[in-house]
Amino acid sequence: MCSIIGYKGKSPAAPILVNSLKRMEYRGYDSVGVATLEGGKILVKKGVGNVEKVNSNLAMESMAGHAGVGHTRWATHGAVTDSNAHPHSACNNNIVVVHNGIIENYKELKEGLISSGHVFTSQTDSEVIAHLLEVYYAQFSSVKKAMTETCKKLRGAFAFVAVFNDGTIAGARYEEPLIIGVANGGYFLSSDVLGFIEFTDRAIFLDNRDIAIMDSTKLELFNFEGEAVARPIAQVAWELGAADKGKYAHYTLKEINEQKSTLADAMSQNVDTVEKFCDAIKSAASLYITGSGSSYHAALVAKQVLAKFAKIRVEAVISSEFQYVLESMDSKSVLIAISQSGETADVLNSAKLVKRMGAKILSIVNVPTSSLALQSDHFLLINCGPEIGVAATKSFTGQLAVIYNIINRLCGGCLGADIASQLAAAAEKILAGQENIAKIAAQLKDATDVYILGRSIHYPIALEGALKLKELAYVHAEGIAAGELKHGPLALMEKNTVVILINPHDSTFGDTISNAHEIKARGATVIGISDSKEEIYDYWIEIPRLEQEMLYPIESVMPLQILAYYMALERNANPDYPRNLAKSVTVR
Ligand code: G6P
Repeated sequence: MCSIIGYKGKSPAAPILVNSLKRMEYRGYDSVGVATLEGGKILVKKGVGNVEKVNSNLAMESMAGHAGVGHTRWATHGAVTDSNAHPHSACNNNIVVVHNGIIENYKELKEGLISSGHVFTSQTDSEVIAHLLEVYYAQFSSVKKAMTETCKKLRGAFAFVAVFNDGTIAGARYEEPLIIGVANGGYFLSSDVLGFIEFTDRAIFLDNRDIAIMDSTKLELFNFEGEAVARPIAQVAWELGAADKGKYAHYTLKEINEQKSTLADAMSQNVDTVEKFCDAIKSAASLYITGSGSSYHAALVAKQVLAKFAKIRVEAVISSEFQYVLESMDSKSVLIAISQSGETADVLNSAKLVKRMGAKILSIVNVPTSSLALQSDHFLLINCGPEIGVAATKSFTGQLAVIYNIINRLCGGCLGADIASQLAAAAEKILAGQENIAKIAAQLKDATDVYILGRSIHYPIALEGALKLKELAYVHAEGIAAGELKHGPLALMEKNTVVILINPHDSTFGDTISNAHEIKARGATVIGISDSKEEIYDYWIEIPRLEQEMLYPIESVMPLQILAYYMALERNANPDYPRNLAKSVTVR
């Protein structure tokens, strides 16, 4: 998972490439590199660090040339080192490559290349692409033939872009995204629309097994067999590019605060599309719901709310586990796939397997042009705008809002007509209490273990809160179904343990308060996220009371997002770019 960008056009390439990489850094940020072509020579600059750091060390922006490629890396094969950073060159430095994905057969390819005299300078799987291109370019003197022959040799998932020293830029994709940006003065090849949206809103979404070749005058598209293919030019929304921090110190903080308005945006859906989505749910002989990370936690909430209000049974399966439950599905099954990016490899793989069985795919995504949206029978949009912070915040509550909207339709409006404004008002109040949560974060600065407890509908939020603390503040945190306390976790309760209870005044309240006493008796610190102040709490985080108790997850997760954000600051972690993680995990 990484981001790749290529540019060929009238403008100097390097500043454009560096800027594009900054926009796509959410896809990986452990090392960075740029290559440009100038006077028939390929120049490469690369190093460890984020775009800003590497650019200020190496002045990538000032490299000459009107064609080039760039890359931000999230290491899979090979440590985070300068030599493993992309772009990778072949032996004669006549071709360089940037790659996103995993080449599964790289070992055998590498051994073959080494035995015929090729010298490798990195431990990456990606470098084999550069050497293979070199072999076939030398053999056929044709960029097209070099690309088709190389692609046929590769197994796994890949999108790559290569610069040839004759001035050609070429890219290919298989199971990883690659999108062409068609600008007035040139072409882009990018992992994400964000790579070129500043310059053009005209995009060509390449299909699996497509190859694109750009020389100075034209763009040509082929498949791996070398046959010409035609792909339409789509217009993408300019708003996709509206991603800056505004007045906030971090994207994560901005995105948490945007929840005042994003909930209503998520609930405002095209009625026909919701209707079709609901009809497909009703037609399912068996219904499954899947997602990764936060999106899986949204699936767990959906499972409970669907059962309670729509009397529909759905099995929630984490996407990385989905391949192991296929036996219980058939062509009459329906899968609801939830994904902010619509590019998470585990989710896409689940969708692919289900599609092969002839079952339907419904998805809830934030990116309408994503691979998941494009292969779904129907999709609903979260509508929360670009989410740049690696940890999901506004997209998670947006997913929940879409889910409640669907369920409200399925149960004939049983959640009430005005959930959107109720939730927006609740969000407003919670966000106004950030200062109190920041103070609690300062008190918890040195905590080593945090347990978050919740029952019923609050249990998935306990899992989500623990995920936020791990991702942002690097604290060991666990979400626990509160009733399970006595079956093990109680052994861990002692003086330095911190326990957060998700405890609004609903049907779970009494039992959870009993847990609070059991925990307090063992000397642990108790934090209550609740609409009522209880003496047992060492710290109280207030959330507004809601008439409909099944809606609490949307509001109770916000204090946990805020707490994780401020704990990250207290512990000198960068909340936007947690170590070792990436926003869009496009490898399995
Ligand atoms: C990554 C992100 C998480 C996110 C997960 C699923 O791990 O760091 O924040 O929840 O991917 O992403 P998706 O785009 O499929 O919702």
